[in-house]
Amino acid sequence: ATNRTFTMIKPHAVADNHIGGITAMIEAAGFRIVAMKKTQLSAAQAGKFYEVHKERPFYGELCEMMSSGPIVPMILEKENAVADFRALIGATNPANAEEGTIRKKYAKSMGENAIHGSDSDENAAIEGSFFFGAIEQY
Ligand code: CMP
Repeated sequence: ATNRTFTMIKPHAVADNHIGGITAMIEAAGFRIVAMKKTQLSAAQAGKFYEVHKERPFYGELCEMMSSGPIVPMILEKENAVADFRALIGATNPANAEEGTIRKKYAKSMGENAIHGSDSDENAAIEGSFFFGAIEQY
């Protein structure tokens, strides 16, 4: 079935002018951009977004990195969106990212891995509504 996932382009990739390159890969892979904007999180907002990771050793570094500059959050639509998008972005560790994936091309490290992708339909809905209201989703 057609469904939705949530993604955001991380600060280092926005700062390096890769919004166009990354959205081109997303659209070429058959995803429709339902919502998109450029915004910046405070450290506290990043902490809330990544609350599931709060016990992880990299949580502080993650929140600092994600609030260090503008990001581009998006809601995407496609058949089998969550799983297909995770395949398109590639492994979290860019050293393991497959050829042709967004992270293979744009990730710099485990933390600066260019882009986020929701890991379930449930989290896609939660993460999408963190950034976008109903009248922003077309
Ligand atoms: P993301 O898909 O946005 O979800 C959690 C993020 O935590 C992940 O991408 C990485 O940016 C970050 N992350 C995961 N593992 C590590 C790690 N070992 N060191 C630093 N950052 C990490």
